[in-house]
Amino acid sequence: MSKAYRIQAITESTIREMTRLAIQHNAINLSQGYPDFSAPAALKEAAVAAIRGDFNQYSFTWGYAPLRQKLAEIYTARLGWQVDPDQHVVVTCGVTEAISAAFLAVLNPGDQVILFDPAHESMRPSAIFAGAEPVSVVLEGPDYRLDPDRLAAAITPRSKALLLNTPHNPSGRVFDAAELAIIADAAQQHDLILITDEIYDRILYDGRQHRCPGSLEALRARTLTLGGLSKTFAITGWRLGYAIGPDALAAAIKPAHDFLTICAPTPLQVAAVTALDFPDSYYTEMSAAYHQRREVMMAILEEIGFLAPRPEGAYYVLADYSSLPIPQARWDSLRFARWLTTEIGVAVVPGTVFYGQPGHGQHTVRFAFPKQIETLHEAGRRLGRLRLD
Ligand SMILES: Cc1ncc(COP(=O)(O)O)c(C=O)c1O
Repeated sequence: MSKAYRIQAITESTIREMTRLAIQHNAINLSQGYPDFSAPAALKEAAVAAIRGDFNQYSFTWGYAPLRQKLAEIYTARLGWQVDPDQHVVVTCGVTEAISAAFLAVLNPGDQVILFDPAHESMRPSAIFAGAEPVSVVLEGPDYRLDPDRLAAAITPRSKALLLNTPHNPSGRVFDAAELAIIADAAQQHDLILITDEIYDRILYDGRQHRCPGSLEALRARTLTLGGLSKTFAITGWRLGYAIGPDALAAAIKPAHDFLTICAPTPLQVAAVTALDFPDSYYTEMSAAYHQRREVMMAILEEIGFLAPRPEGAYYVLADYSSLPIPQARWDSLRFARWLTTEIGVAVVPGTVFYGQPGHGQHTVRFAFPKQIETLHEAGRRLGRLRLD
């Protein structure tokens, strides 16, 4: 049997491969982006109560009504237009499904969708599954700023949409007002749809505020805003995300979501209402904890000699190892990441997997730090060997 062309066009996830390798070699897993600390107790209780309370059948396909109501309230304030829970909100199985459904909803075979590389691994396959062509606009390290000329050069008559992730995985960038204005101009000028992945919207450093790109006047009518609960509430296994868009975009994504998954897990949607009702103190404490994790991670990397831009948001550091005083510093990033996992005992992701074009991301690896402080210190002890080897 020959595999379908869309499967031949993609490779298996290197991030999940690194997780498997980490388990096999008993390495500290700083590869895949999920916490090793507990989800909030109140959420676990709410999920158990929902199951006991018999919320165990399919939910309404666009999502459990009180959850959509809550999301509509939050996003009316954030986006600056009246989000209607029945018209404009779709609860999905994570942002991963939301991206796939969004691409299926707006892209025709042959259309091009612009991705900003480095980009999360699932974005390219999602575009390919929709029959579309992903086109890379490379953000160069160590700043990872958007270059307007590169964006202009990537736009063709076949360009249909852009996918922007901010705060950004893996660079830790939070795109600023000037960069959003460049994207807004390009979208308006070339009649592009903007799909935003804002899954890290609550993980920001140094007093930064999240601004939804879809709240910009020029982008309101053409933006599908995606978000999720995985990262904010340390529940990556619950698979809860959502898409919010104006009439035409919401109407387009609804059938794609319906026939992909019918609905997100019902009892977990019920529990998600509890999450969205958490007081401000939850976010203040989470922010303090992430600042501490970032400081510990950065101190470890800087002491060893990695060159790593300080994340402005999200929970990753993309670190350049090329100046470490070890022979492995000259290895390509996949070989280096595998070696770090199997020989040093710290699993990371090779930087190259985040790029659609070869030649980018070399000599970088991504460290994920949504971990207990003790886990990070243990990783630091193991990485200390890089100075001695
Ligand atoms: C940028 C980005 N988008 C989407 C996802 C996946 O989100 P979800 O768990 O909601 O599917 C991740 C997970 O790491 C991510 O980093």
